[in-house]
Amino acid sequence: MRSSSHLGLALSLYLVVLHAQGILAQIQQYDLDFTNAEEDQLTGNLCIFQRVCLANPEALAKRLPQEPCPDPFADDRNSQFPEGCTCNTDEDCGGGTNKCVNCNCRDCPVSTQVTNRGVINPPLTFVVDTTKSVKPDKFSIFNLTQRVVERIQEIDANIPRYQLVTFNDFGPDPRLNVEAKPETQDVIQFKQEIISLEFESYDGGRDSKERLMQGLLEALIQSPERSLIVVFTDNGSKDLNLKNKIVELKNLKEQQVYIVLTPIYEGRARDPSLPVYDQVADEVFFISEVGADFFLSSVESFEESNCL
Ligand SMILES: *[C@@H]1O[C@H](CO)[C@@H](O)[C@H](O)[C@H]1NC(C)=O
Ligand SMILES: *[C@@H]1O[C@H](CO)[C@@H](O)[C@H](O)[C@H]1NC(C)=O
Repeated sequence: MRSSSHLGLALSLYLVVLHAQGILAQIQQYDLDFTNAEEDQLTGNLCIFQRVCLANPEALAKRLPQEPCPDPFADDRNSQFPEGCTCNTDEDCGGGTNKCVNCNCRDCPVSTQVTNRGVINPPLTFVVDTTKSVKPDKFSIFNLTQRVVERIQEIDANIPRYQLVTFNDFGPDPRLNVEAKPETQDVIQFKQEIISLEFESYDGGRDSKERLMQGLLEALIQSPERSLIVVFTDNGSKDLNLKNKIVELKNLKEQQVYIVLTPIYEGRARDPSLPVYDQVADEVFFISEVGADFFLSSVESFEESNCL
């Protein structure tokens, strides 16, 4: 017996004939004979040469498109840019207010006016639920908000404006519940405001569904166009009827909204808040399910890939 372990090996090859539209037309099975397989010097792969013959070329010809097959990878192959990228420099984006942001062309009217080099990334607004006591938890609102800011500092995003909005629940009047801190350009000051946040201890006597919708609406009003607004809470919200107003304003100002449910969602699973959260937010993060890192990466990626 020869030492090669592949002697007499037979593998099956599934020959797939595709239509031009890429629709699976036919799958047929052939056997490959590895008796005389050889190792490729370069790759170390086991290789065979085998004649594949068509018994009925007419039948195949009928199934082939009349036009030459379009090459679905032609753009990628001809592209000098890495996969998923459309540009290296602003010049690749055709001028005007287009800029190359994180290797993709984006319309950046403000950045084009203000800076010669680089872009201005989206302003960042936090909307924080302060009704809960601070638990020293790595997924607590206290911890997560700070980690976002730390990540922003690490990636050196060019964020022109930060703002902190808090909400509590002292009754239906938003003026009692929502507080918008003055905007700041200074990330250190923003972080300081977050660290100084006072979270009220949970008072078991109170109905504790939160006033997220009021806080979010105020944040949308105060934040500039194209801002990223990140809302931190752990429960459902009252005032769900603010939904239409929120969606309308958000679309008008092209703002991005993330809702972060952390450390875990305390509301009921069938809570009517959840479908509304899905409608007012671009993304809803259940931190206990997706993890903090996934959320942090999403913020990072949005900031890096978008511009004013
Ligand atoms: C958040 O929690 C993690 C894990 O407990 C800890 O390592 C980290 O220092 C905390 N960060 C902040 C800002 O509290
Ligand atoms: C969440 O809201 C519900 C409904 O108001 C309330 O019963 C529950 O205690 C809240 N959970 C927390 C942790 O506040």
